[in-house]
Amino acid sequence: MKLSQIVIIFFSLLFMQSNENLIAAGGETYKNLKPGFSFEGPFGKFDRESLKRGYKVYSEVCSSCHGMKQLSYRNLSQKGGPEFSVERVKEIAADYFIIDGADEYGDPVERSRVPSDRFQAPFDNKDAAKASNNGAYPPDLSLIVKARSDGANYIYSLLSGYEEPMPDSLNIDDSLSYNPWFPGAAIAMTQPLYDEMVEYEDGTEATIKQMSYDVSNFLSWAAEPTMEERKSLGLIVMGFLIIFLFLMFFSVRRLFKDVH
Ligand code: HEC
Repeated sequence: MKLSQIVIIFFSLLFMQSNENLIAAGGETYKNLKPGFSFEGPFGKFDRESLKRGYKVYSEVCSSCHGMKQLSYRNLSQKGGPEFSVERVKEIAADYFIIDGADEYGDPVERSRVPSDRFQAPFDNKDAAKASNNGAYPPDLSLIVKARSDGANYIYSLLSGYEEPMPDSLNIDDSLSYNPWFPGAAIAMTQPLYDEMVEYEDGTEATIKQMSYDVSNFLSWAAEPTMEERKSLGLIVMGFLIIFLFLMFFSVRRLFKDVH
């Protein structure tokens, strides 16, 4: 194999894209929408402002049904994430409460949360979560982007893809909503986002698409908080391998130059 061929194969592997997610819903095939996320590709990084807005959407809308048990409040100020200031994270955490130990009479003591506490869960257990959602369980969102193929694009499409009216051919239960991006197109989550549902601090207009985009960004970071670190390490390793490849190539050529 020639050096040029090796280099071409190497770069095509590097820039290979993940498979697209095709869903057959009500006979139609829906391709995931692709809003274009800044973290895509080998050099991609998270958009900090979008992560901050995404946290707002999660905390004001999604957190009433979905937990994110892998996250602690302090993660919100960590490098590579939304990077809220440490002070801001203390304020965020203090809005939530937790039962921590008992007093001298054995009664439970409640205190405000601190940055090292985990995110507050909306329900005490799975059964309580199901009981409040017509028997359907709202999954924990910490790793949901990894748990679905083409996760970020899928969640963006799902959240911004509620449609009315439901096609007659589908004939689904009244307690379910029509969403052609959900496998089977009938989902137990009612449309969670409506225009202007949250008020963004940076003045960005809170359209359904914008909120879906920001929260998909936030969930992508939550599923892999060290992505930026991994990518920059990956690039260093690749750089080293490229140099190594050239060294090997020329030394082999030199060693065998007299062999015909
Ligand atoms: C009123 C409760 C409620 C709210 C608010 C809510 N969800 Fe859900 N969500 C559910 C339920 C219930 C399900 C399970 C649906 C099913 O299995 O049919 C679900 C499922 C999901 C799924 C998984 C879909 C799949 O492929 O299995 C994602 C992702 C999701 N929700 C994201 C969100 C996001 C992001 C928000 C905030 C913008 C949000 N949800 C707000 C109740 C809710």
